[in-house]
Amino acid sequence: MRVLGIETSCDETGVAIYDSESGLLGHALFSQVDLHADYGGVVPELASRDHVRKLLPLVRQVMAKTNTKPSDLDGVAYTAGPGLVGALMVGACAGRSLAYGWDIPAVAVHHMEGHLLAPMLEDNPPAFPFVALLVSGGHTQLVEVRGLGDYELMGESLDDAAGEAFDKAAKMLDLDYPGGPRLAALAEKGDPKRFTFPRPMTDRPGLDFSFSGLKTFTLTTVRQHALEDGLPDEQTCADIAAAFQEAVVDTLVIKCRRAIKASGYKTLVIAGGVSANKQLRERLETSLSKDGASVYYPRHEFCTDNGAMIAYAGSLRLKVGEQTDLAVNVRPRWPM
Ligand code: KG4
Ligand code: ZN
Repeated sequence: MRVLGIETSCDETGVAIYDSESGLLGHALFSQVDLHADYGGVVPELASRDHVRKLLPLVRQVMAKTNTKPSDLDGVAYTAGPGLVGALMVGACAGRSLAYGWDIPAVAVHHMEGHLLAPMLEDNPPAFPFVALLVSGGHTQLVEVRGLGDYELMGESLDDAAGEAFDKAAKMLDLDYPGGPRLAALAEKGDPKRFTFPRPMTDRPGLDFSFSGLKTFTLTTVRQHALEDGLPDEQTCADIAAAFQEAVVDTLVIKCRRAIKASGYKTLVIAGGVSANKQLRERLETSLSKDGASVYYPRHEFCTDNGAMIAYAGSLRLKVGEQTDLAVNVRPRWPM
């Protein structure tokens, strides 16, 4: 089965072709980062308009690169939510219409299911069942994954998502959008022990998270050390970044170990933009190996939004007979 995947839920236009026999045939991504940089965050209307401009040329590019004709395809998968409504509509309308025109089935994919299954595109994929830590700009969730579509939420953030906290802390340190990777790079030059940031909600049982307090703590620390231009000196900024990152990573590691223990499983999957964080990966690997558990994550480029994870998740959904009718529906909020 060969499936075209389309991702347009936020600020990346992603297209890929996945073949259930040969694996991922090709993929392409257009990032809108430069478009939104001046605004310090994603502007929904600009995002939708740019998806409209970029999507079909990207589809043509991936089809050509993989030598795929429409008649070679068995289905089209598109992200139907959660995400920005206008952005989702672009991918959903285009994907559904292409499938209609090509007379093949279409399937609506949950963006977070795409992230969750992304590690399965790697050479050594995890096997069901496992615990997944989904950490992106919009979500921080621990999910018990028993099989395809058989998910149970174990815990989630009660306020900001981990990626959102990274982005907001980065803004306080005057780093450009998207701040997460930039803050992580700055943290490499810092001393994480100079400041002690809280580890929210780790002193009580449960698997929920809260990151908004860390944001406030960061702001207070920045203000306490600010010079005339409103920012601390370079080294202090790096030390704050390092302490912030260590607090987020520590918190995530503590909850992941708890979730693994509670589930009795020996496999943890991490996915979503923040799973690209080097410190998070290293700390999870060393901590979980003490519990006899293994950690799986996608390759770097498939941690953040991409079409490959949607093509893959769509192929599994189509295989079990799922498909959407011609009325295009998107779900900006869509619990998994
Ligand atoms: O999954 P994703 O591309 O989009 C959403 O579905 O939200 O995740 C984007 C998020 C952003 O908040 C970004 O700052 C964060 O992932 N991120 C990182 C790193 N790379 C991306 N956060 C921390 N460290 C990184 N290396
Ligand atoms: Zn995402």
